[in-house]
Amino acid sequence: MKGRTNGQDDTVFIRTKTDVGKVAQDTQDSNRMWWERLPMTYADWEGQNRIPKTELDFKGIEDEVFSQSPFLRTKFDFSRFKGQRVLDLGCGSGVFSCCLAKHGAVVTGIDLTEAGINMAKSNTRAQGLNVSIIRMDAEKMAFADASFDYVFSWGVLHHTKHMNDALTEVHRVLKPGGRGLMMVYHKNSVVYYVHGLFWLLLKGKLFSGYSLKSVQDFYTDGYYHRYLSKSELAMRLKSVGLKSNRFFVTQYRKKILPLIPNWLDQALKNRFGMCLIVEFEKAADESA
Ligand SMILES: C[S@@+](CC[C@H](N)C(=O)[O-])C[C@H]1O[C@@H](n2cnc3c(N)ncnc32)[C@H](O)[C@@H]1O
Repeated sequence: MKGRTNGQDDTVFIRTKTDVGKVAQDTQDSNRMWWERLPMTYADWEGQNRIPKTELDFKGIEDEVFSQSPFLRTKFDFSRFKGQRVLDLGCGSGVFSCCLAKHGAVVTGIDLTEAGINMAKSNTRAQGLNVSIIRMDAEKMAFADASFDYVFSWGVLHHTKHMNDALTEVHRVLKPGGRGLMMVYHKNSVVYYVHGLFWLLLKGKLFSGYSLKSVQDFYTDGYYHRYLSKSELAMRLKSVGLKSNRFFVTQYRKKILPLIPNWLDQALKNRFGMCLIVEFEKAADESA
């Protein structure tokens, strides 16, 4: 990690990264340990009781996710996978595994962490859903080639150490003609540049050795957190044989910049939001 932090500016993200860095065995272990300590539950990162236990807690996560994300609420049709084999890659609490299963998909959820697997299993049990939840690294999946019709991955692949290894695996486990959707962090975003420059210049991190890239450690979740442009994401997908069909840019509910009117907030989110979503596809006949 570049530079030094001072107590005043330490955030939960940088504290966790520093702590994990001291004990992790290797690179992917750093990624894993970060998420073991701070599992994704859409609750305040520093909140007490942020781990869901009851059906009501899990329903709360689902409500929170959908109320925060206009894309998931209005543009993604969970019901179109009825009877299809869907992989929820990096399932965390299992919120999306459960939504897909409720709509009739045959779902497998994988996550690198025990924390994620435990939550996802409790979630499916609490909702009485039949979902296969397995602890597995997306970079080395144990599934046979062509196992899935669809791969769904929300907020995961920018966190893994070797993103292209995971994408190669996504390509391998998809059936010919299979499709998928992933959300990663968007580089051409207000968060990356405006927040980055705020931390570098106004908080003075430039003077303790941080760059626009490394200063993200102060306010971005995960041990690793890559921000990608549309063209970089398309290139990475292409390099493993996946075709990008459509991109969307969006951001969650909180205003992108303080005090701006709603119309400007929406316009900025649609163009410079933090979430970059791509729909992709594996060719039906790769020799063609
Ligand atoms: C930001 S959370 C998103 C969780 C879930 N998709 C959601 O939106 O609630 C990122 C998740 O990806 C998992 N993850 C990170 N790298 C992974 C990998 N290489 N293989 C499997 N899961 C991974 C983490 O354990 C964590 O649960």
